[in-house]
Amino acid sequence: MEMSEKWMRHYSSNHQILLVGEGDFSFSLCLASAFGSATNITATSLDSEDELCEKFKYAMHNVRRLERYGCDIQHEVDVHTMSFDNSLSLRRYDRIVFNRINRSRVFIYS
Ligand SMILES: C[S@@+](CC[C@H](N)C(=O)[O-])C[C@H]1O[C@@H](n2cnc3c(N)ncnc32)[C@H](O)[C@@H]1O
Repeated sequence: MEMSEKWMRHYSSNHQILLVGEGDFSFSLCLASAFGSATNITATSLDSEDELCEKFKYAMHNVRRLERYGCDIQHEVDVHTMSFDNSLSLRRYDRIVFNRINRSRVFIYS
């Protein structure tokens, strides 16, 4: 059964969305929860899985929940070099988001 389109601010459940620079993956999980699915989301962190475990209490808990929503999770993705990564660069995204909340800015590329 096809799910109806859901919007959350700039994002639609029909968009292909790439999230770059996730910390504890709470932003990704928030979107996935709103959509009821994350099969349209690729969520990435600069940190490795080990680094996430050290830095963020709930990161892996959030990652596991995202996986259950069907999210594509990738670690050690640097925004400066990701265009050389075939698994990302060969796909087409409607939204590429790099949230730098500590600078009070949200960059949205579409
Ligand atoms: C303020 S946090 C934002 C976390 C996350 N987007 C969120 O909403 O919870 C900034 C993030 O940018 C990531 N970051 C810094 N430099 C980066 C780079 N060159 N490539 C990818 N991510 C980077 C850091 O690892 C950090 O997790």
